[in-house]
Amino acid sequence: MRADGRKVDELRKPLRLKVGVLNEATGSAYLEWGGNRIIVGVFGPKDAPPHFTRPDRATLRVDYKMATFSSKEEHGRSAPSRRSIEISKVLRDALSRIVMLEKYPGSQIDIHILVLQAEGGTRVASFYAAVAALIAAGIPMRTRGFGVSAGKVNDEVVLDLSKEEDNLGQADIPVCMDLEGNVLLFQLDGKVKPEELKKAFELIQGKKDFFDKMLREEFEKFYSGELDYDFRVKA
Ligand code: CDP
Repeated sequence: MRADGRKVDELRKPLRLKVGVLNEATGSAYLEWGGNRIIVGVFGPKDAPPHFTRPDRATLRVDYKMATFSSKEEHGRSAPSRRSIEISKVLRDALSRIVMLEKYPGSQIDIHILVLQAEGGTRVASFYAAVAALIAAGIPMRTRGFGVSAGKVNDEVVLDLSKEEDNLGQADIPVCMDLEGNVLLFQLDGKVKPEELKKAFELIQGKKDFFDKMLREEFEKFYSGELDYDFRVKA
C-alpha cells in the first residue's frame, strides 16, 4: 500500500486538462495533476532570428520554469536553475521528435512552460500539457504523446510518484512516449533491476489510452464551444 493509499498503477487526482487558456498565445493548455499546476503557451511559428535559422526546418525552443511560489524549495528563486535548463532541453528533444518541424523551414516555435505549483513529476506533466498546447496552436504533429513517471518505492514498482515517493523512493523513472509506442524521454534516478524496468514500462504503457482519451475529449469540448463575436472559439 502506498503512503497516499493509491494502487500501484493509480494516477494522482485531480487530473484535468484545459486548452485555449491564454489569449495571446497561438495555442495553450493548463494541466492540474495531483498537486501540480502547469500552464503552457505556444508562440509561433514566426521568423527565426538569423542565428537560429535552419533552412530545412523550424527551430523549437522550450523554456521550462518554476514560479518562485511553486514549492518550498523554489521560494524566492527567479534565475533559471541547472535543473530547469536541463528539463527545458530534454523536453525540447522529446517534443522535436513528434512536431513536424520540416513544415516550417526558417521559422521558430517557442514553448513556454510555467509550473505554478510543483509536487513531483512536473517534467512529464509538462510534456503532456505541451503536446496539448501544440495541437491547440494548430502545429502539425506526427503523432500525439503523454508522459508519466514510474518508480520503485518500498521495493515495489509503482506509477506516478508523488513528491514524497520521489524523495524517499529507491528510483524515479520519468518517461514520455508517443502513441506509436516510441519512448521519447527516459531518465533514471536511483537503481532498478532490468525486470523492474520492464514492469515500470508496462505500467506506463498501460496509461496510453487513458491520456489520449483525455486529450481528445478536451479538444472535442474546445471545438464544440460557442463562437464569440470575433470568431475565436470560447474555451
Ligand atoms: O518535477 P520532476 O519530478 O520532473 O523533477 P525532479 O527534479 O525529480 O523534482 C521532483 C519534485 O521536487 C518537483 O516536482 C518539485 O515538487 C520538487 N522540486 C522543487 O520544488 N524545487 C526544485 N528546485 C526541485 C525539485
